[in-house]
Amino acid sequence: MGRGSGNPLAGSDEFVIMADFFSLRTVTWEDGRVKMIDQTALPNRLSYVVYTAPEQVAAAIRTMVVRGAPAIGVAAAMGVALAARRSKATNISGLVRDLETSASMLRSTRPTAVNLFWGIDRILAKARSSPSVKRAKEEVESEAKRMEDEDVEVNRKLGRAGADLIKDGDTVLTQCNAGSLATVGYGTALGVVRAAVEQGKLVKVLVPETRPALQGARLTAFELAHDGIPCTLISDTAVGYMMSLGRVDRVVVGADRITKDGYVFNKIGTYQEAVLAHTHGIPFHPAAPRSTFDLGRTYDEVTIEERGAEEVVQIRGRRIAPKGVPVSNPAFDMTPPELVTSMITERGLVAPPFEESIAAFMA
Ligand code: MRU
Repeated sequence: MGRGSGNPLAGSDEFVIMADFFSLRTVTWEDGRVKMIDQTALPNRLSYVVYTAPEQVAAAIRTMVVRGAPAIGVAAAMGVALAARRSKATNISGLVRDLETSASMLRSTRPTAVNLFWGIDRILAKARSSPSVKRAKEEVESEAKRMEDEDVEVNRKLGRAGADLIKDGDTVLTQCNAGSLATVGYGTALGVVRAAVEQGKLVKVLVPETRPALQGARLTAFELAHDGIPCTLISDTAVGYMMSLGRVDRVVVGADRITKDGYVFNKIGTYQEAVLAHTHGIPFHPAAPRSTFDLGRTYDEVTIEERGAEEVVQIRGRRIAPKGVPVSNPAFDMTPPELVTSMITERGLVAPPFEESIAAFMA
């Protein structure tokens, strides 16, 4: 174990462990601290950061040290749990006020993935219903830990539900990283692939690089290679041609939010995969747990995060476009329900018509 150096966050204890990646978790609560893989350092270095303050967790979410909808939901919940640990409040209303202050800071980090808000609300509800400061602090910590464990369990169930769709020898196209690194462990879209592999099937994954933040190249290719699951990295612009050559059997992607009317918000590039899949008669499945479904909103009420121009005009710090060129950088897009074959969840497949099936599945 040696000290690393590349993390942008001041005040975190960073260290490098070269260890068996899949015996470890992306986000974990350990001895009253939050430990997470620094995803900005991948694929070149597997390193961890350890946080003791909610502000550090908020900065980690904003700068994508941790990213992926389920992972940021659990991380944000742990950020609120850190606030509880640090609070000096002597009564429950004072403690709840302290937690709400940290919660609103954590809520402002990223707008699109609903899991972030789900995770924070779940911890706040625990604190609000506790009879004393002491009990609230204990319950908030154990709830954060429970959410960590539940995430892996839910992904395993979801994976098994989706694996039955995959045939021996299939090639699955994905987008971004909806794997172990986007969750506490196992993954959603890649959880489906892992479960199919566990069933003894040979599955290949076609991985678009996923510009501009390159989660496909940096993270998905890394974790699949690490797990020994065959994958081929392609440029984002090769997706349609690969489909036209018959090299994609099924598309399985993650989701950051699925609204009650069946619209799927996921990493930019997902919508074009769905349109192309439809054109080529290829089944298209978002894979997502219940915490990604938003029964409170329709498609037109979701904010798509717009990220900085530097992600587009640079590749890993190197400028690739002229100075001053106008840039638009939406981090997510929206796929309408008519392009979705079925959704893969921990309770099985959710099929069209989605408005009805989502309501039934969430009931
Ligand atoms: O910007 P990111 O890397 O947080 O975006 C992640 C995605 O879009 C994933 O596909 C999504 O969160 C599903 S993760 C299981």
